[in-house]
Amino acid sequence: MAKQAVMEIRGMNKHFGPTVALKDVDLDFYPGEIRGLVGENGSGKSTVTSIMAGMQKATSGEMKYNGEPWKPLSMAWAQEKGVCMILQEANTVAGCTVAENIFAGRLSEFGKFGVINMKKLNAAAQELLDSFGLGRIKASDQIANYTFEDRKLVEIVRCVTEDTVILVVDETTTALSLDGRQILYKLMHSLADRGRTVVFISHDMDEILEQCTTLTVLRDGNIIGTLDEEELAQAKDEEKREKLVEKIRFMMVGRDIGNAYYREDYDTSHLEEVALEFKDVSVGPIKHFSLQLHKGEILGFGGLSDCGMRLIGRAGFGLERLEGGQVVRGGKVIDSPLKAIRSGIGYVSKNRDTEALILSAPIGYNIALPSYDELSRFSFIDPVKENRMVTNEAGKYAVKCKTVRQNVSTLSGGNKQKVSFAKWTAKDSDVLIMDCPTRGVDIGVKQSMYALIAQMKRDGKAIILISEELSELIGMADKIMIMKDGEVTGEFMRSPDLQETDIIGSMI
Ligand SMILES: Nc1ncnc2c1ncn2[C@@H]1O[C@H](COP(=O)(O)OP(=O)(O)OP(=O)(O)O)[C@@H](O)[C@H]1O
Ligand SMILES: [Mg+2]
Repeated sequence: MAKQAVMEIRGMNKHFGPTVALKDVDLDFYPGEIRGLVGENGSGKSTVTSIMAGMQKATSGEMKYNGEPWKPLSMAWAQEKGVCMILQEANTVAGCTVAENIFAGRLSEFGKFGVINMKKLNAAAQELLDSFGLGRIKASDQIANYTFEDRKLVEIVRCVTEDTVILVVDETTTALSLDGRQILYKLMHSLADRGRTVVFISHDMDEILEQCTTLTVLRDGNIIGTLDEEELAQAKDEEKREKLVEKIRFMMVGRDIGNAYYREDYDTSHLEEVALEFKDVSVGPIKHFSLQLHKGEILGFGGLSDCGMRLIGRAGFGLERLEGGQVVRGGKVIDSPLKAIRSGIGYVSKNRDTEALILSAPIGYNIALPSYDELSRFSFIDPVKENRMVTNEAGKYAVKCKTVRQNVSTLSGGNKQKVSFAKWTAKDSDVLIMDCPTRGVDIGVKQSMYALIAQMKRDGKAIILISEELSELIGMADKIMIMKDGEVTGEFMRSPDLQETDIIGSMI
């Protein structure tokens, strides 16, 4: 007997003005599967799933949920009926507690006559957090006290309940650290084991092949094909795996992109000149940290979340108030982002929606923003120069847009990330601090970002690369510094023999 789909999508189209995001999409999801959804940035993954989860409406097309017509009114409405989605972008409400965020929309369950019993609410939320292994997050705390990663975990706790039938996880893992990911994976598998459906969106092929049971590929708003369980199981076989990956990539991009990916040289030499110096810096868990970053050097920082690597990046850009010591460039103390930018330091933040981009402003403005000093004469901006620069940068990364006058908010997640990278390469920064620069970016663009980083080294730029992907650090850095609890616990020089297993020991 053929399996009955829990969700059926037929002939779905979605237009945003002149942009066609989905074209006649037919898609079925089945109970008990973890369905991967892959495709390049802007291929329509978030669009199709967010329509299913009630966040927006299709231009045309039908959906059926458990055999009945499905016309979700809102995300909250859909979640009540069992269809939930963890969004690609941050989705917690600042100014509220963790508990209020977890039970948002259901607060009335904890009250009488409009008065909410906070004790009951907090206890229920804490019990939930504990059951997810997240006891360290306190229900009664303000959500704003937590990092982006923890807020994502709170979203997961909010989304997944006993009644969850379909869970969509949109590009969430890039926001999570290793342990956060493990929690999420376990949850996905336990849902699938109970006959529920998980739709998992990611650009990380290893992760997709390890976690998913089936896989659908999208390209330019079209479904290119679906790999069933049997075909995807080939990934477990070393020999067949490579062919399978090649096939999936080809389906995604429609051309062969080859295997060259990271830097291929092993030249760890750099110039003598110091580009950025940390002098006896203390901030948070970091005590008395000193470091010299040289021109032409790529320093990688890795570790588990909260290890302090993220703070190093922030301090280098003048974003942190130091408890001791100084960050210095060219004899000047860097203690504010403005000073950092003026002295040629760029910073790609992991928190792209709140720190890296002005979502409600055009792509062009975002790219040109740090460069207005150079683009203007006598405080007038040269529009021709600005336009040339912006169009050139947007083209370099193939930002998927109709025009650079479009607001950044209309871009897909990965395309936003391209913009937050492009604004610093446009400025031609001499020091670039990058916190997870390839987050949510598809493989083709990753390839060009890596090539660009390698070129920057050759051009004598100084680079700090902070990453949770050990493979990325091994692939790109001259030297990798691993941190734990604010201290550097291991240093590894670039070498063809360096393996992830050599490094993991100093992380935990
Ligand atoms: N609000 C909007 N206004 C205009 N265009 C939009 C809007 N939302 C999405 N789009 C466009 O729809 C297309 C599909 O976007 P979608 O977010 O579904 O891509 P995606 O596959 O999730 O990509 P990514 O991997 O980068 O997250 C893109 O071209 C995007 O720019
Ligand atoms: Mg997306």
